[in-house]
Amino acid sequence: MILVTGINGQLGYDVIKELKNRNIDCIGAGRSEFDITDEQKTKSFIKNILPEAVIHCAAYTAVDKAEDEPELCEKVNVFGTKFIAEACKEIDAKMMYISTDYVFPGSGEQAYEIDDKTGPLGVYGKTKLKGENYVKSILEKYFIVRVSWVFGKNGNNFIKTMLRIGKERKEVNVVSDQIGSPTYTKDLAKLLCDMVVTDKYGVYHATNEEYCSWADLAKEVFRIAGYSTCVKPIKTEEYPAKAKRPLNSRLSKKSLDDAGFKRLPNWKNAVDNYLKNLEF
Ligand SMILES: NC(=O)c1ccc[n+]([C@@H]2O[C@H](COP(=O)([O-])OP(=O)(O)OC[C@H]3O[C@@H](n4cnc5c(N)ncnc54)[C@H](OP(=O)(O)O)[C@@H]3O)[C@@H](O)[C@H]2O)c1
Repeated sequence: MILVTGINGQLGYDVIKELKNRNIDCIGAGRSEFDITDEQKTKSFIKNILPEAVIHCAAYTAVDKAEDEPELCEKVNVFGTKFIAEACKEIDAKMMYISTDYVFPGSGEQAYEIDDKTGPLGVYGKTKLKGENYVKSILEKYFIVRVSWVFGKNGNNFIKTMLRIGKERKEVNVVSDQIGSPTYTKDLAKLLCDMVVTDKYGVYHATNEEYCSWADLAKEVFRIAGYSTCVKPIKTEEYPAKAKRPLNSRLSKKSLDDAGFKRLPNWKNAVDNYLKNLEF
């Protein structure tokens, strides 16, 4: 049986759905089942149900807010992850930890390989990296999957924001010097379900294929949605945000290829599929 955390978030919602579609025995947990910052509850829940694997999708994901409440962000992303890893160790379960491109500093233009030097710029990235380090130090049977620019049906994301403001405005300013890849939770969920049943442990990068900027993504969203809204490209420094973000979020998929996992579809294809299934 597989346990999925964070099922009321974007990714957890699609992961549990995909496991059910495949008739894989699974249990989903949201905050009401256990708050991952509660060590006793988290560990006893896991030890009671004895899963073979835990896909840990729950996280503190508010990147800017994290700068104002670093302790809470740390509690969730570092210690919540540590408690889950310790419980997995005790019952000999595999753990899949979802991490982020924000563990990297974002310099240069090369795609980051899995073992490139990390150097998070903000609180969120720092806590996700500490979470990774606990997983690596506690467990042998782990998958760390770094993803970026996540969008899914269940939750808020950049695409939903663009659809909302694009409807009201003739022109929107969007950052064009941060380059990376969007990741559609429905595509990612398939890969995670393929991966978790194997013993091909290690660190992976997984996003939809090809790179773009946030401005490119906004343009594609408006094009598919049939909006005439103009996208005005701006620089990161012109956009007021509390947290510093990496300019280069390109992630190399070499480790997926080496392990024989199928890459995710092109991001334009993913956005197209997403919008077909979304009411806006
Ligand atoms: N979103 C992105 O752009 C992005 C980019 C890179 C990596 N990631 C990583 O991808 C994974 C999935 O992200 P996502 O976009 O699906 O996140 P999300 O939509 O924000 O969902 C996160 C879920 O975690 C739950 N959660 C937060 N604190 C908790 C706690 N103390 N105890 C139990 N549950 C708690 C939340 O519960 P409530 O619903 O009750 O608040 C929420 O349902 C995360 O590991 C994230 O770090 C995300």
